[in-house]
Amino acid sequence: MSTVETDRPQARYALGHSPEEYDRLRTQARVWEGATGRLLDRVGLAPGANCLDAGCGPGETMRLMAERAGPAGRVLGIDTDAQLGAMALAALHEAGHRQCSFHAQDLTAGEPIPGAPFDLVYARLLLFHLPQRAAVLVRLWDAVAPGGHLLVQDYDLRGISVLPALDSVGELGRVITSVFDAVGADVHTGARLPQLFAQAGIGSPDGTDVAGRLEPLATGRALLERTFRSVLPVALAHGITTSAGATGTLAAIDRDAARFADCPMGWPLLIGAWKRKEPA
Ligand SMILES: C[S@@+](CC[C@H](N)C(=O)[O-])C[C@H]1O[C@@H](n2cnc3c(N)ncnc32)[C@H](O)[C@@H]1O
Repeated sequence: MSTVETDRPQARYALGHSPEEYDRLRTQARVWEGATGRLLDRVGLAPGANCLDAGCGPGETMRLMAERAGPAGRVLGIDTDAQLGAMALAALHEAGHRQCSFHAQDLTAGEPIPGAPFDLVYARLLLFHLPQRAAVLVRLWDAVAPGGHLLVQDYDLRGISVLPALDSVGELGRVITSVFDAVGADVHTGARLPQLFAQAGIGSPDGTDVAGRLEPLATGRALLERTFRSVLPVALAHGITTSAGATGTLAAIDRDAARFADCPMGWPLLIGAWKRKEPA
């Protein structure tokens, strides 16, 4: 078994399903809208295309696909979280994107993916969470139509940094990374995408892309702090931190964000890889 794949079942989806986490996902999706839209345009999403967003979460990328595929296209979102999917679909329909639909499904289970084959199969920040990431990638590739594309974007958390280095940011990063390690996620999935494509029998990607974001600590801290709050129940359950430790860390980042407000903070890198399937 390679270092990038285990058959350990996902212990738990570490980010949870709270309204605060749903809101964090929407905010995060808006931050990466340009980086994702650029790659959708790069692979060329034609009007009328049949698209899948695997692990669609709040459906923000489904909207980007619907805008490009137009009313004659079809956009299916799949996610284990039926509640979030229902909210995503209601918002998309409200905005006029009636070509969108949602299906609740665990992509690590063996059921066939409905609606396949697709002109585009897309997954952002999904494989990161799945210990069976190469096996899921095989299934996603199988769902691509001849001549269609697989496009994946995922994080490498090594992008998280602040200048000067601060203990408060280091501790937030330690807790977040330890939680993901504990549940079988891979915090370097983005960087490993070419290896994962090879492991899944897809071959080398046709292209890769690296997107980053730099913000002053005063605002950039929000992503880290909100992620920390989302993973905190798992961190406490695994003894990665304590309630008192978490309270102290949040107070420390408050102090540092005031004192070092304009210090540059890097977000995780969002790394993309894509591959076109040979036409029939
Ligand atoms: C970090 S969110 C990313 C959401 C969205 N792709 C985005 O970038 O905005 C990961 C999503 O994957 C979903 N997910 C986790 N495990 C899954 C599985 N085994 N099958 C399908 N979806 C899953 C979660 O419910 C969550 O909505």
